Amino acid sequence: MERLPGFRDFYPEPLPKPDLWSADARQYIFDKWRGMARRYSFREYDGPPLEPLELFTTKSGEEIVGQLYNFKDKGEREISLRPEMTPTLARMVASYERSYKKPLKWFSLPQLFRYERQQKGRLREHFQLNADIVGESDPGADAELIALLIDILRSFGLTEKDFVLRLSSRNAWQEFYRQRQCDGAQEYAFYQIIDKLEREAPELSDEKLTGMGFSLGEVSSFIEQGQPTAELEAILTNLAARGLSDYVKIDYHVIRGLAYYTGVVFEAFDRQGEFRAIAGGGRYDNLVKLISGGSVDLPALGFGMGDVVLFEFIKARGLLPRFDAALDAFCLIENAELRNESLRLIQDLRAAGLVVDYSLAPAKSDKQFKRAQELKAVHTIKLERRQAGELLAKIKHLQTREETVVPAAEAIERLRQRSSQR
Ligand code: HAM
Repeated sequence: MERLPGFRDFYPEPLPKPDLWSADARQYIFDKWRGMARRYSFREYDGPPLEPLELFTTKSGEEIVGQLYNFKDKGEREISLRPEMTPTLARMVASYERSYKKPLKWFSLPQLFRYERQQKGRLREHFQLNADIVGESDPGADAELIALLIDILRSFGLTEKDFVLRLSSRNAWQEFYRQRQCDGAQEYAFYQIIDKLEREAPELSDEKLTGMGFSLGEVSSFIEQGQPTAELEAILTNLAARGLSDYVKIDYHVIRGLAYYTGVVFEAFDRQGEFRAIAGGGRYDNLVKLISGGSVDLPALGFGMGDVVLFEFIKARGLLPRFDAALDAFCLIENAELRNESLRLIQDLRAAGLVVDYSLAPAKSDKQFKRAQELKAVHTIKLERRQAGELLAKIKHLQTREETVVPAAEAIERLRQRSSQR
């Protein structure tokens, strides 16, 4: 049976085929995401993968709504798999905002589902780091979030030569629009034309803009001038103080497709323009209010970084480590009479935090040794009973062939020392 198109299986390394997805690489990405988010003092949260359909149709915008995996459940409820995390976060925050001191700095690693046309960097499910700050309107919060995004990418070994964060502002575009147009109902449609500018033929964009009373020329010259707004200036100054200026540039091409953004917006791209956006986000100061039906009003901002493009990007730059699931020790049970003692030793070694394996069923010595090598064991450990009845452990380092014999009771400590020196 085949899996659904756009969905992935994750296999342990070594992979049977190079184009399969690696569960080890996924864990590597998750560990980096979590590690850096925690260093920035973000706390982890999660929500359900299924939500009432209405949560997403309220304010996410047409593009995502057209991609929903939605259906009726057996209780006749209209529901949907989550295509993004932000509405869930807004709902969760609104429910218990009084229990938390502001600003909230929260992160999550949800799996998301979008019925997209499958293409490079876009699948029908992906994992997405979400980092959001709620309850702070100062641009210092935007800078903190952007610094986190940059530091996450740097933690994979990427540098300012590899990626850039394109910073923009819906406020700037709002001003541009409102100076020339008073029909507020068309404003989001205008943003969508800007969002597609780089992907659509110029003639088509021009035609659409003209239909709304604009011209491609004036839009292009506004983008080219790229005058930072006061909020963007403040963010740039903040990032410069952190030594992160080389990672950002003002770029008004970015406006973001989602409907709920209200202020600063940004997207991270590889410098060579090979891949789709690595991450995207911005301010959404009205969403909590909207989702709480007006009862909670908190400014908010955040970003999402998917695992698909990130994986392809770090792989292409040769930055993925090798994933050897090496064992600290493989326990050889050559003497059937010592099986119970060996099982006890294995149990104790594992309790001490060591990665240990052994032959589950009795097997010939050479077969056991071969298995130890296949599993890339650093050591073998074998119990032996001396004639006087003393139980000894023989620890062998498979590469250096160095052998140590210690009383069985000391084996754990000895192996632990050796493994921590690795
Ligand atoms: P988004 O731009 O839709 O934003 O997604 C963020 C990132 O998720 C993209 O830059 C991309 O890396 C990844 N991504 C999105 N769709 C797919 C897909 N079909 N396949 C693979 N990767 C994908 C949001 O979702 C916002 N809710 C982010 C946010 C959080 N804004 C504020 N807080």
